[in-house]
Amino acid sequence: MDIKLNTPRLIDQFGRTVDYIRLSITDRCDFRCTYCMSEDMTFLPRNEVLSLEECLRIVKVFVRLGVTKVRITGGEPLVRKNALWLFDEIGKLEHLNELVLTTNGSQLEKHTAALKKSGVKRINISLDSLKPEVFKKITRTGNLKQVLAGLQASIKAGFSGIKLNTVLMRGINDDETADLVQFAINNKIDISFIEEMPLGKVNHARESTFVSNADTLKLLSSKYSLLASTETTRGPARYWLVAGTQTKIGFISPHSHNFCESCNRVRITCKGELYLCLGQEDKVDLMPILRANPNSDEPLVEAILKSMSIKPKGHDFDHQRIEPAIVRFMSHTGG
Ligand code: 5AD
Ligand code: SF4
Repeated sequence: MDIKLNTPRLIDQFGRTVDYIRLSITDRCDFRCTYCMSEDMTFLPRNEVLSLEECLRIVKVFVRLGVTKVRITGGEPLVRKNALWLFDEIGKLEHLNELVLTTNGSQLEKHTAALKKSGVKRINISLDSLKPEVFKKITRTGNLKQVLAGLQASIKAGFSGIKLNTVLMRGINDDETADLVQFAINNKIDISFIEEMPLGKVNHARESTFVSNADTLKLLSSKYSLLASTETTRGPARYWLVAGTQTKIGFISPHSHNFCESCNRVRITCKGELYLCLGQEDKVDLMPILRANPNSDEPLVEAILKSMSIKPKGHDFDHQRIEPAIVRFMSHTGG
């Protein structure tokens, strides 16, 4: 098959072009956030997880098929041994415009310089509280001081964008909404509020803690002058600029449906499962194809091209559900 490099080839049955992949490189994490994991998580055995070389093979094939943006996620990507090797290799790929990272920040201080050097452009750091004891309660094993040190190191390193990701939970950290925004303003970075998603079976009552972005926007509008931004990442985020500052506030509402029609992304789990939609089960297992064809990427190319015909039109989340719509964990699929 004749494939010209960097020509968009991934077009689904609804005419949407896929040019963005989110790759989870590990299901492991040094935190156990209550909305993400159970306290006694069992993680995958090593041979069921893509090797870093396999991760690179997958990314290279997607870039060959026109993907221009890669986000590395987890679990916590920086707890994976030699993760920096992968960042270096992906950073060298000629047709990639944007290499970005989602992290909990725990290992950021020591890796910031290397990440910058590898070509990472932007970093999203999860931060749900500025109070050490609340931070501990939410993450179970996290240390706020360490995350803040990582954040400051990456601000100093001069990435082109740093954004906080915050999940608000009623009665737990929703009293810090404005403080978190003010913290972002003071540090000249952005912040996104993510509505909690019904992913994985976690030991936590989602129905009673759910905070809608509509309520958060209302609260923040009474404190700040917010200017609607036309910026879109073709995903579930909508942005507002805080007037007179450099800070944008994002609202990520996975429950809303109106972004699905511009969806440009697919996800790859650390097991090599290609999920065509965060909220649906449609997937293709890439690992057996990779392992059966160590010397040829063509079967992988074929499988990825074919997957475009099963990318669903939209998702099916409902936070009222008692049982999660999707039983897989965020740490498995990638945030
Ligand atoms: N709902 C919403 N956000 C979640 N994250 C993890 N699990 C969930 C969930 N169930 C978020 C984390 C992090 C990002 C990677 O995903 O807070 O910011
Ligand atoms: Fe780890 Fe992120 Fe899940 Fe928290 S939300 S347990 S930091 S993967």
